Amino acid sequence: MKKKLFAVIGNPITHSLSPVLHNYWFKKYNILADYTLLNTEEKDLKGVIEKIRDGELNGINVTLPFKQKVIPLVDKLINDAHHTNSVNTIYLDETNAIVGENTDVFGLQAAYLKEVNDAENKKALVIGAGGVSPSVIFSLEKSKIKDISIINRTHDKSLFLKKKFSYLNVLEWKLLKEKIREYDVIINATSLGLKNNSDFEFEFEGLKPNAIFIDTIYNPLITKSIKYLKENNIKTFNGLDMLIYQGQKSFYLWNKVNPEIDNELIDLLISKLK
Ligand code: ATR
Repeated sequence: MKKKLFAVIGNPITHSLSPVLHNYWFKKYNILADYTLLNTEEKDLKGVIEKIRDGELNGINVTLPFKQKVIPLVDKLINDAHHTNSVNTIYLDETNAIVGENTDVFGLQAAYLKEVNDAENKKALVIGAGGVSPSVIFSLEKSKIKDISIINRTHDKSLFLKKKFSYLNVLEWKLLKEKIREYDVIINATSLGLKNNSDFEFEFEGLKPNAIFIDTIYNPLITKSIKYLKENNIKTFNGLDMLIYQGQKSFYLWNKVNPEIDNELIDLLISKLK
């Protein structure tokens, strides 16, 4: 039997944990397959995606900065990819069409949003208007949160997202420190806090005691903000669960096996972050 080949494309891509995740499951379920990192230039995107058509690649995950850029290169967008204009999973369907799907929305919902009770009366703040933000917003909408605000350093990018998600309240970046105190669900969808990157210039003081803070970042697992909020008894989540759950859904779409998230896998992933 021919070995199947999967890859994650992005730039830069060296820090992705997706190969660890998928190769663990391939081994566990005796699937003859390999999952690799493919550092890709924008000009090569079309060629890489076409490899799906001839079976050279059996599935692709897409990460920054290509989640929108691959859209014109697939034959059809389905479900959450269609609603967010953001693709993270590509495969060939039974009609030989190259399909773009989004499993980030599921990843977010499965990872944290089930922790949100009485969603219809909660206020959510999305910090950031970059590549992951449409998935964050749509996952909040699907979780029935109605009051959703967005705040981003570059204001125009928030306004651009409001064209797609008209219900968004758009806040000015300079008001973040003050306004954040009004929210029940706060999601960091910026790259602030990422290893070797800049961080928020202030602590998130004075949050509601029952607020939850969700970070889309998993490297490091405990960012400066998460450390501060934990010390102040605010419930926090890091991005590792989101990574695992989006990977679980991609794995299912490609292999029709719903892989288990066991402790050995979690320990393995955490060990790679040290
Ligand atoms: P892109 O915006 O190219 O899609 P991204 O990594 O998906 O890149 O998104 C980065 C997010 O982190 C953006 O919301 C970005 O804000 P801008 O739109 O203003 O660039 C945010 N971000 C990155 N560095 C930041 C910083 N130093 N201060 C505030 N926000 C920052």
